[in-house]
Amino acid sequence: MTAVELPGAVRERVRSAERVVVFSGAGVSRESGLDTFRGAGGLWERMRPEELATPEAFRADPEKVWQWYAWRYQRVAEASPNPAHQAIARLEAVFPFIIVVTQNVDSLHRRVGSRNLLELHGSLARAFCNRCGRSRDMGEAIAESPGAPPICTCGGKFRPGVVWFGESLPEETFEQACEAAASCELFLSAGTSATVYPAAGLIELAHRAGACLIEINPEPTPFSGLMDLRLAAPAGEALPALADAMERCRWPTT
Ligand code: OAD
Repeated sequence: MTAVELPGAVRERVRSAERVVVFSGAGVSRESGLDTFRGAGGLWERMRPEELATPEAFRADPEKVWQWYAWRYQRVAEASPNPAHQAIARLEAVFPFIIVVTQNVDSLHRRVGSRNLLELHGSLARAFCNRCGRSRDMGEAIAESPGAPPICTCGGKFRPGVVWFGESLPEETFEQACEAAASCELFLSAGTSATVYPAAGLIELAHRAGACLIEINPEPTPFSGLMDLRLAAPAGEALPALADAMERCRWPTT
C-alpha cells in the first residue's frame, strides 16, 4: 500500500488525541497465516460454531472440541506476529495512552510487545478446569493429553481458556474495554467483521463518545458508514502506512 494521507479533519484529531483504542479481530492475524472466522476460507465456512465453540458442544463431545483447539493451538504456536501487530505496538510510543482491545485468542499482540492489552475472548495460551477453575498452561495440557481434555485432580475436565458462544465475556476486562471506548478520542477498528456482540458494541460506544473512527478492513462492515476514515486494504499493509502517517502528524519534524 502506498503512503496514507490523513484527511484534514482526521489529522487534527490524531494530532490532539491523548487516549486511543485499537480494536482488533481475526483479520489482523490473517497475514500471520491464521484463518479468520467469517468470509471466504473462514473457519465457520468449514465448521459449525455450535459444534465446536459452545459449552454444550464441550459437554456433548469433549474430545472433538479439545482436538480442534489443540489444532488451533498448534497453528498459533507456528505463527509469528506480522507487520500489522508490529505497527499497533509501535503506536504505543506515539500516543500518551493507548489500549489494544482484541477479540483474538492467539497472543500475537502480546508476543510483539503490546503492553496495554485486553483479551476480550480469552486466550488459547491457558486452559482451565470446568469444575474448580484451576488454570494451567494450554501447551502442557495438550502435550499431556492431545486427544482428550486432561482430567483435573478435582475430577473436572480442562477446557481451553477462550470465551464460547453463550458465555459472558470476562467481566472486569469488558468493563475496562467499555471505559476505554467511551473515553477515547481516536478509535481504530482493524480486521474485524464487527458482527459479534457485545464486543462490536465498543465501536458504537466510541462513536457516541465523539471519537474519531478509523476502520482497516478490505471489506466493508456494518459500521463502515460511521467511519471518519476507511482503509480498504490488508492490515499488514495498511497499519504500517497508517502508523507512519500518525508519526508524521504527531512528530512533524522527524
Ligand atoms: P471475522 O472472521 O468475523 O472477521 C474477520 C474480518 O477480517 C473480516 O471483516 C475480513 O474482511 C477482515 N480481513 C480479512 N483479511 C484481512 C486482512 N488481511 N487485513 C484486515 N482485515 C482482514 O473475525 P472477528 O471479527 O475477529 O469469537 O470475529 C469475532 C469473533 O467471532 C471471534 O473472536 C470469534 C468468532 O466467532 C469467538 O470465538 C467467541
